[in-house]
Amino acid sequence: MSATTITRFVHEEIKPRIGSRILNSKEELLAGDLGPQIRELLEQRGVLVFPKINFTDEEQVAFTKTLGGFAAEIRGGEEIHKITLDVKENPQSAEYLKGSLYWHIDGTMNDVPILASLLSCKVPASWGGNTGFCNTYAAYDALSDEQKAEYDKLRVVHSVWASVFYYEPEPSLAKLKGMQAIGENELPLVWNHRSGRKSLVLGCTAHRVLDVPAARSAEILVGLREWATQEEFSYSHEWSVGDLVIWDNTGTMHRAEAYDPNCGRMMHRTKLQGEEPFE
Ligand code: OGA
Ligand code: MN
Repeated sequence: MSATTITRFVHEEIKPRIGSRILNSKEELLAGDLGPQIRELLEQRGVLVFPKINFTDEEQVAFTKTLGGFAAEIRGGEEIHKITLDVKENPQSAEYLKGSLYWHIDGTMNDVPILASLLSCKVPASWGGNTGFCNTYAAYDALSDEQKAEYDKLRVVHSVWASVFYYEPEPSLAKLKGMQAIGENELPLVWNHRSGRKSLVLGCTAHRVLDVPAARSAEILVGLREWATQEEFSYSHEWSVGDLVIWDNTGTMHRAEAYDPNCGRMMHRTKLQGEEPFE
């Protein structure tokens, strides 16, 4: 005789408009059958926290694969990517990660951004170093009908070179040109998802709104960033060793909060392949 056990999905809300905590065990998560329910909750809640789940790198990779297509890192193609501002640990991307201290969506230079990132904490920061998230579906939904009608039509040029000025106001020309070589990408301000839901596409790569004067463009982008990141739509995760957090990169923005770059803060990241273009 064999009995099929159905794993019960156990979770609780963190804040009304964003975030849920998942309370299933590591074994239950690795068994894989909760994958579809986790995916659905991720889309509804934006951010899922797995407190002190303590996955090894292999377990994190295996768990990621229960949720969708695994996206290898562009740099190096390794399965686990180290996220740290420490140049000794991460010589290629510590510079690039300085932009992650400002609100952003991963992959605005691509037409199909990654679906989600999974970040696990190996060493927390000595001070600061929370990761902040905000729900860009909830932020869009709460706009007035007049604002929605105006913003629905707008398109925004995104570039990595524009975000350099956030952390280095006077870059060398060589550095600017290096960043400009990455290119620019024109995206809608409001993402019309296949599900019928809509979210805002913002962040430090959002440079200018097309066909409006520069001052109005800045007013729209700064105003919407302020709106979307307000307390009601946001959650700041304070890390403990072993925590894993997943964010829906298509319906949230995120940022690392300031920390000492030499403190040894170390996160391990895996990613899920994008399934839907910005449109
Ligand atoms: C990222 C990122 C934020 C953090 O991994 O894409 O932005 O808190 N990380 O390290
Ligand atoms: Mn990021």
